[in-house]
Amino acid sequence: MSWWDTITSTPALLAASAVTLSAALFVRGRADPSVVSEQAKEVASAAGADTSRAKMAQASDPITPSQLAQYDGSDPSKPIYVAIKGRVFDVSGKKEMYGKGAGYNVFAGRDASKGLGMSSLDPKDAVSDYSSLNEAQIKTLDQWEGFFEKRYSVVGKVVAE
Ligand code: HEM
Repeated sequence: MSWWDTITSTPALLAASAVTLSAALFVRGRADPSVVSEQAKEVASAAGADTSRAKMAQASDPITPSQLAQYDGSDPSKPIYVAIKGRVFDVSGKKEMYGKGAGYNVFAGRDASKGLGMSSLDPKDAVSDYSSLNEAQIKTLDQWEGFFEKRYSVVGKVVAE
């Protein structure tokens, strides 16, 4: 078997290349997650990758908003979490984006659904109540949700204090 056969017959490797591809597409597409998520979905499903179930299995751990706030990147020894529609994602692998002082730190340690839907980096928009979003913004939020599902593990769900 040639090295090419080995690479192309291994779903994990193809899935890994889907992630690389989506990162590359994302850089090109800037803040347009729809392009990324559709492409990644195609490649991942071609590779036979399970894009949802494995991650959902970890999703039931309850996390209150004040617990979530401890994972905002200010303590480098702790993971960094971002929640979308109550689902908590571990984004620790992207400290350069979500860590202290980084461009997207505004989303860290909180459910930032509204801000993601609005494409807003304003801290006052980084809240969980997204009931004021219009249809297009809800769509944007859903696309971010899909983007995070593919990239990050779900580590819990936000519950009331
Ligand atoms: C001039 C405006 C912007 C530029 C040039 C820009 C650029 C980028 C680039 C290049 C990435 C990909 C980085 C990577 O994959 O490593 C990215 C990711 C991202 N951007 Fe922006 N962005 C802009 C505005 C915004 C705004 C307004 C939002 C608010 C929602 C936003 C939210 C995000 C998020 C959530 C990610 C995903 C980070 C991740 O988890 O990998 N961006 N942006």
